[in-house]
Amino acid sequence: MLASLSRPNDVMSAAAESPHGRAASQPRLQRIARASWLGAVLFMCSAASLAAEGDKLFASCAACHGAKGEGNATLNAPAIAGQDAAYVERQLLNFRNRRRGTHKSDVFGAQMQAAATVLPNDAAVAKVASYVASLPKSVIAKPATGNLHNGKNLYNGKCGACHGGVAEGNQALKSPRLAGLDASYLKLQFAHFRDGVRGTDPQDTPGRQMAMMAKTLPAERDLDDIIAFIHQQGRPK
Ligand code: HEC
Ligand code: HEC
Repeated sequence: MLASLSRPNDVMSAAAESPHGRAASQPRLQRIARASWLGAVLFMCSAASLAAEGDKLFASCAACHGAKGEGNATLNAPAIAGQDAAYVERQLLNFRNRRRGTHKSDVFGAQMQAAATVLPNDAAVAKVASYVASLPKSVIAKPATGNLHNGKNLYNGKCGACHGGVAEGNQALKSPRLAGLDASYLKLQFAHFRDGVRGTDPQDTPGRQMAMMAKTLPAERDLDDIIAFIHQQGRPK
């Protein structure tokens, strides 16, 4: 009993002695430790203040998109929470640079076009975009119904390569997440791409790609089925 208790004491006193034994290397190590600690604190402060600034800027968006960016179907404002930051930023710049939301039949796009110009500068656009991306992803409460078999086949054949197997989006291909978007928004955007309301600007390369794709889906019914399939993705099982 006594013998086994003496062992931890030995270990502790050995540990207490060892720093003195390596006194020469100690100040240098401490300097490095202090410098990297300071770096980490500075990094955390700047990330936190960026998020805080984005949070403040988002106040003007919440009126239409909801406090958590969950969207508001009554106002035709889509869910944006958890959407890829680069995608959100590009869309905001598209609105600001009049590449989206300026077609004469794009009533809701025009509203967002006006809202996007309220942001003071491109730095504010980047900040609010990263805040939007940090919000928990939206989930569809009431999935649209349709022929899931047809929807799955068509989605996999025509959409999944860019938008991801479970409609989660693909940052490298600049393709947004579709899983959390409601049916009327999905339909409207699809029609806008198909009919030359969105994705026509020569500088909007991703939009033009999507516009080309939208022209390859022959039947309206097929889109309903695809949307039903999309709505099954990203749901709690
Ligand atoms: C007056 C209401 C309103 C306000 C305020 C508003 N939005 Fe919108 N927003 C909309 C509507 C409506 C749309 C859909 C436009 C369309 O149909 O093309 C939209 C679309 C968007 C889109 C495109 C989504 C996508 O999936 O392509 C983004 C991103 C966006 N808003 C972000 C913001 C941000 C960030 C703010 C705050 C700076 C903001 N909005 C303020 C109404 C609003
Ligand atoms: C070649 C790649 C590609 C394919 C295939 C593709 N998309 Fe897209 N899609 C995109 C890109 C890129 C965007 C973003 C366009 C932009 O920046 O405005 C997009 C945007 C969209 C949007 C707008 C989402 C939003 O938040 O506003 C919808 C809806 C959409 N796609 C549906 C579909 C459907 C349905 C299919 C299959 C029938 C499909 N896409 C096939 C690349 C693709």
